[in-house]
Amino acid sequence: MSGNQKEWDIFISHATEDKDTFVRSLALALRSQGLKVWYDEFTLGIGDSLRKSIDEGLSSSKFGIVVISPNFIGKPWTDRELSGLYASQDLQDENLILPIWYNIDAVTVKKHLPMIADLVAIKTEAVSFQEIVEKILIKTQQTALVDLRTHMPTGISVLDALTGGGFPRPSTLSLLGVKGIGKSTLATQIQISSLFRGEPCIYITYREAPYDIIDRFIRLKAPIEEFIQKGIFKIIDNYSVINCLSKVEVDKCIGNEVLSSCLIRINNPYDTDNYFKEQLALIDKMGTGGVNIVDSVNERYDMIKTSDKGTFFRKFRARIKPLNQSAIHIVTENLGHKEYNEIMKDIQGGTIRMSFEKIKGINHRIIKIDSLRDGKSIPVERQFSITESGVEIY
Ligand SMILES: Nc1ncnc2c1ncn2[C@@H]1O[C@H](COP(=O)(O)OP(=O)(O)OP(=O)(O)O)[C@@H](O)[C@H]1O
Ligand SMILES: [Mg+2]
Repeated sequence: MSGNQKEWDIFISHATEDKDTFVRSLALALRSQGLKVWYDEFTLGIGDSLRKSIDEGLSSSKFGIVVISPNFIGKPWTDRELSGLYASQDLQDENLILPIWYNIDAVTVKKHLPMIADLVAIKTEAVSFQEIVEKILIKTQQTALVDLRTHMPTGISVLDALTGGGFPRPSTLSLLGVKGIGKSTLATQIQISSLFRGEPCIYITYREAPYDIIDRFIRLKAPIEEFIQKGIFKIIDNYSVINCLSKVEVDKCIGNEVLSSCLIRINNPYDTDNYFKEQLALIDKMGTGGVNIVDSVNERYDMIKTSDKGTFFRKFRARIKPLNQSAIHIVTENLGHKEYNEIMKDIQGGTIRMSFEKIKGINHRIIKIDSLRDGKSIPVERQFSITESGVEIY
């Protein structure tokens, strides 16, 4: 089987029930390393054929993972199905399938799946999540992984494919679009991908209460408490300062000590010089490997005194340029400053525009990506939708 022309690096065959607790996080973590991961179609429910699923996976992926769990063995697989799996040439000769034993012991696997109990497997009880990801990466080493020093994968397979493995590092991405289109969701997905690589990230919020930011991470099934405990995730909470909410009120609303421990307040965000001094000090302390989010540039701009508005973005760019920090600047369409894009051009790694467009009378969500800095400009336009996994681009 020639492995070179395959569209995907890896597929993950799994039981529906394990998606929320394990499989989605695994897929996100592997994507954040630049692997093209296919997993939604491999969610096995009642009546699905395991053998067919694996055959399909192997026809377009270089490598497959089967997540064997109490839910997985609880499915009514037939003997024929399982022996068919075992008889597969691919499994025996090329070692293309790696089983993961998820919360299950050797005795149970042997009892239910004797024919695959002998394959080398990763056992989730014996290793950390990070080690699982590393083991899979070692296993797939032959596949061309992107260079993480020069590329910043987004973890969104279509975006990564379009950008040749990710945006250039460091990159300031401007993410423009109307209200409610999905800007914060997309930015958060990209930040989660960075956090899965262990990179330090700050979410700078003006627009939403920290509770809403945290809620979005939880909805996207990101292990946010783990990121906070590792010290790689902080929220600069300008929202509460601007809206005169006390720390006690904010903490009470969040209702969880670990979660509120990531909140940082800057005392007077209206004092621009002081604000940037404190923000840059935090970035300095945490390191610049990750992706910071400014949500949104509009509110920052609105806080500037009228007399400073003309020069603000030039000063802003001068401050952030030496940082070599990747960031996503969220801009709502009505930003009052017309020259914003022009001013940011030389630090911009790309512009992403999200919009609604009427096609045959129906509103569609459209994403346009353009102006990549390293010369490989790739103006592309795709449809997307918002699902429980976030922005999904077609
Ligand atoms: N709590 C939620 N539960 C389910 N869907 C949600 C939730 N919050 C947002 N959405 C959906 O995701 C879409 C995009 O939300 P998102 O916050 O990413 O948009 P945005 O572009 O950042 O908007 P804004 O300009 O208002 O900040 C919303 O229109 C909504 O359909
Ligand atoms: Mg938003």
